[in-house]
Amino acid sequence: MRTADIRSRFLDYFAARGHTVVPSAPLPTPDPTLLFVNAGMVPFKPYLTGEAAPPWPRATSVQKCVRTLDIEEVGRTTRHGSFFQMNGNFSFGDYFKEEAVSFAWELSTSSVEEGGYGLDPERIWATVHHSDDEAALLWRRVAGLPEERIVRRGDEDNFWSMGVPGPCGPCSELYYDRGPALGRAGGPAVDEDRYMEFWNLVFMQYERGEGAGKSGYPILGELPRRNIDTGMGLERMATLLQGVDNLYEIDETRPVLDRAAELTGVRYGADHLADVRLRVVADHVRTALMLLADGTAPGNEGRGYVLRRILRRAVRSVRLLGHQDPALPELLPAARDCMRHSYPEVAEEFGRISQQAYAEEDAFRSTLRQGTTVLDTAVAEVKAAGGHLLPGPKAFLLHDTYGFPVDLTLEMAEEQGVEVDREGFTALMAEQRERARADARARKSGGALDTSALRTVLAAHGPTDWRAYDTLTTDSRVLALLGPGGPLKAVRSGEIATVVLDRTPFYAESGGQDSDAGTLTGASVEAEVLDVQRPLPGLVVHRVRVTAGELAAGDAVRAAVDPEWRLGARQAHSGTHVLHAALRQVLGPTALQAGSYNRPGYLRLDFPWRGGLGPAARGEVEEAANRALRRDLPVDVRWMSLPEAKELGALALFGETYGERVRVVEIGGAWSRELCGGTHVERAAQVGVVALTAESSVGAGMRRLEAAVGFEGFRYLARERDLVSRLAEQVQAPRAHLPERVAGLLERLKAADQQAEELRRRAAVARAGELAAAATDVHGTLVVTATTDGDARSLALAVRDRLPRERPGVTAVGATADGGKAVLTIALNRAAAETGLSAAGLVKSLLSGRGGGTAEVAQGGGVPAESLRATLDGLTGLLAGE
Ligand code: ALA
Repeated sequence: MRTADIRSRFLDYFAARGHTVVPSAPLPTPDPTLLFVNAGMVPFKPYLTGEAAPPWPRATSVQKCVRTLDIEEVGRTTRHGSFFQMNGNFSFGDYFKEEAVSFAWELSTSSVEEGGYGLDPERIWATVHHSDDEAALLWRRVAGLPEERIVRRGDEDNFWSMGVPGPCGPCSELYYDRGPALGRAGGPAVDEDRYMEFWNLVFMQYERGEGAGKSGYPILGELPRRNIDTGMGLERMATLLQGVDNLYEIDETRPVLDRAAELTGVRYGADHLADVRLRVVADHVRTALMLLADGTAPGNEGRGYVLRRILRRAVRSVRLLGHQDPALPELLPAARDCMRHSYPEVAEEFGRISQQAYAEEDAFRSTLRQGTTVLDTAVAEVKAAGGHLLPGPKAFLLHDTYGFPVDLTLEMAEEQGVEVDREGFTALMAEQRERARADARARKSGGALDTSALRTVLAAHGPTDWRAYDTLTTDSRVLALLGPGGPLKAVRSGEIATVVLDRTPFYAESGGQDSDAGTLTGASVEAEVLDVQRPLPGLVVHRVRVTAGELAAGDAVRAAVDPEWRLGARQAHSGTHVLHAALRQVLGPTALQAGSYNRPGYLRLDFPWRGGLGPAARGEVEEAANRALRRDLPVDVRWMSLPEAKELGALALFGETYGERVRVVEIGGAWSRELCGGTHVERAAQVGVVALTAESSVGAGMRRLEAAVGFEGFRYLARERDLVSRLAEQVQAPRAHLPERVAGLLERLKAADQQAEELRRRAAVARAGELAAAATDVHGTLVVTATTDGDARSLALAVRDRLPRERPGVTAVGATADGGKAVLTIALNRAAAETGLSAAGLVKSLLSGRGGGTAEVAQGGGVPAESLRATLDGLTGLLAGE
């Protein structure tokens, strides 16, 4: 059964049993405790904890997940994927254990014709928490499982939480016996390869606190309701139903693995280490595709770093399998074709996705080239000094500056007979991680989101008197000043700290609205407010930079929001509501906001939608929004109970948290009615203009609209007009004919490029023949040296291929790149390599170690242009043994 079929059967089964089908959330999650969604329940967390009222009693989803904590396991076991899909059914205070057990059993074991998965009931085992008699009884009663296939296990195995504070509870897992060929008998406790877990049912009843490991945390209390959270591993079910050995061999990954095998010439199944590498490639390429599709870009921190690491591991695994050329252009399309059935956006967005991936591979390849030179030099130094240990700081430099994974350093150093000081390296890494963590904490929290310090302040002084709705200025007192290391007495000019005031007019970032900008001014201090957050319920904190004087705990200050900023913020937030209502007016009620962000002059809004809107629908939405502004609809803010708000049909947004009394913002009465804590204009016309600036995909079935608002909207439109005028002038066409004129120019340019390319190719080939014919004989080896202003490598290869095969031939071509330094490529034919010559060796000898490659082709750089000829001549001397 294909993975796509397993997926749709799951959703159909639960939809038919009263569950609302909810699309997968994008992989990057706003949940501050995570980088990526790592379980199906993550988007439902507020409903599970009771922070927000669930919009439906039952839901089902197939959620994209990324877990990289156990990335080292990928490829080594049969069941660890860095990307996977979790099929889940959820009950928010509706059904509990009995239904959860019978749903899972029925779907797993009913026949394929009846819409089930047709698993053999005799081969299914269940585990339950040792205290959970009820679940054990249900597996016997509902499923008819015999006692010996119900295994009781402890907290380590059968108590589930997200690994961070949040909802949790005992769980019960289903395993399938894949037969004696795969391991010993005796159930899941004995062998998790033979007995593969495929479904986890979590009976969510508790809320857990901070703590390490699988059981080292306190249970803070019961959740307001008992919920069900389940996770069926889609890839694992596919492994079972497709009768393959592991999840890298199912229909959504195997083609990538096969392509990698083809590319590297390695046969899958012949060698354990090579198999692991092929599986790593198959897994990582798919993960990278899905992360890129959801808008994560490779980078040096957070999510971007996870993606970068995954891409690099994939590229490196392909290299270790013996393929040196760019690999992603061969592999990524294979991954796309596997995933496009379930996620059409990977194909629609492939232009952008592949561009980012290929650029990252290119960058990594050049990193590898540079790093190799640094490593070789360092190794040479170690050896010259009679040592055998590469110092830790060198390995760290390679890692930190050249992006060299340490295992690569280890391996390459070992090839040259040198070990690496791993302890020294690890110590430096630990230091760096600590720095990065402190830095991240400082950035996120304004210097001191050490929650225990904040709790102390809150306990001592009570909640902040928050006046953002009534005024822009307050006379306030500094209750506490906090730095990264804890409470501070005073902060001097130029320094940044977190400030708690008794009372504040500043809006703290929430509901998509950015925090207010403004100042704190006292008798002897001026400070700029950089960020405002509400890290604990009731407590508002300001991140400020002192610009003059000194700010001390206890100071009286005037807290003032910049009125221009606040006006812009109100315009942007009301603009967001207007755009949202316009979107639903044009596209229908399913275009429900899934996330938004706004600050003065700018807004963005994400909503579920398949495919792009296209210019026509986009135009309609923009027009509907601006018509609402022109009609000058009134904006009203009202407080009411949540049931009253629901009665009125106010939109409660997914992932938001609401209290007892809710704030409803209406624009034009029922036209736009949303639960919202933000600041708004009084009448729609005050928004000015909403000008759409971009539409993009931010993941599976999720679109993003961006707009310039208010005066920024006008500026944006004026800039666009100027741009069109300039272009029209440059290509000398009336504005209305601009598109045809540009298309014509591009057409001509393309034809001219093709012609030029063809001429260059012919010239290079013509010259290659001539150069090969003029080869000199150095002790029986044919030697050609040449310079070019084109591509040294292609010319060297072309010449080499024109030398007689049976005679050893060495070709060296130097090219002067921009900046006066030359690069040198040496290519050997097979006959030359067989005599024991090595292109890499020759390049290193000629360039004193600066270069590298294989025995047949190698490249080096850094030769001053004026000494290129002499370097080339040096080759003849070298071969002549002078
Ligand atoms: N949340 C549960 C898991 O991830 C179902 O296993």
